[in-house]
Amino acid sequence: MNNITIEVKDNLYYLGVNDRETPRFENLWPLDYGVAYNAYIIIDEKVALLDTVKITKIEGFKSNYEEILGDRKLDYLILHHIEPDHGGAIADIIEKYPDIQLVGNKQTKKLLKVMYGIENVNFLEVKEGDELCLGKRTLKFFTTPMCHWPESMVSYEPNEKILFSQDIFGSFGALDGSIFDDEMDYSRVRSDMRRYFSNIIGKQAQQAKMALEKLENLEIDMICPVHGIIWRTHTRKVIEEYTKWANFQVEPGVVLVYGSMYGTTEAVADKLARFLVEAGVKTVKVFDASKTHASYIINQIWKYNGLIIGSCTYNVHLLPVIKNLVSILEHYKIKNHFLGYFSTYGWASQANNELKAFAEASGFDYIDQKIDINGMATEEHEKQLRELAKSMADKVNG
Ligand code: FEO
Repeated sequence: MNNITIEVKDNLYYLGVNDRETPRFENLWPLDYGVAYNAYIIIDEKVALLDTVKITKIEGFKSNYEEILGDRKLDYLILHHIEPDHGGAIADIIEKYPDIQLVGNKQTKKLLKVMYGIENVNFLEVKEGDELCLGKRTLKFFTTPMCHWPESMVSYEPNEKILFSQDIFGSFGALDGSIFDDEMDYSRVRSDMRRYFSNIIGKQAQQAKMALEKLENLEIDMICPVHGIIWRTHTRKVIEEYTKWANFQVEPGVVLVYGSMYGTTEAVADKLARFLVEAGVKTVKVFDASKTHASYIINQIWKYNGLIIGSCTYNVHLLPVIKNLVSILEHYKIKNHFLGYFSTYGWASQANNELKAFAEASGFDYIDQKIDINGMATEEHEKQLRELAKSMADKVNG
């Protein structure tokens, strides 16, 4: 929170800042409720700042660390992850504390130069398992490459069992007065957190799985990420949930997403949604891809095991919003899903060919049924849609 510092534990301070101005994270993913850039300070025999914030938020951050530090100087700046939402104040900190030692790994050093032109600084390179003693507290480092960038690493404080987890366990959403998981509604956080995971780290789910396996033998009582709330009560629960997402463990249900210009494809989607329910699917979530940003659709796809995509043909291709979604799904290499598809057209059929090509390349278990509707759906089409609904219901309900 801007201009608010909170003692998380004795001599461990939170000094994150809220950002409710940036419309989209990475200029891609909507931030309806903003986002928080978290940083921490440990005051011990040595004083360490753990991460910084986005450059647009330096002023609030600065007043926070000045309030905590008073006349004390920083000895270390621990760089768990230096994407600009966390690395924006690094140069500022070096300027203010020229004797500070930056702590990162080999990749951090490379990226500091590439991203910020920072080189020839006092840099302590740490490797897997290295420890840094601050006095009563010690930080042990574990590399977590590609969660989210190559230099990403976490640190663990063994005495109090605290994991400083950088983007892992992070969440969208500014912190509205609450910084701990027991101070806010867990269900809202859960969805924001899965959206952060699926949108930002999802492409690297395999690396996230490996990182979690690496950390699974640690006793963790508290998780301090660089976005979102600090976990101190639901810690075990959040680790379990996160592990599910990284392993593509999905629930029975169908996400039905369509792209429709004038309502014909939408009408087909609505019929199909009803047929799915009649076939026994308990949860059906229907989205108009022209209205709902792909960010939210991907979040739901990460939750449920069934996916049906419908598109009209537009300029002899998929409707661009569906094309966009399909290309994100191809890029993210999502696993453990059942796929069905349908298409509509006026005078030139093409969307179906592109959806079939996607289905074949996707690695999903797909229902190989061609439903390509010329104009309005006929009784024969409805029969086909019922067959698709039945096949999908059988698959998702196992
Ligand atoms: Fe929160 Fe990958 O930056």
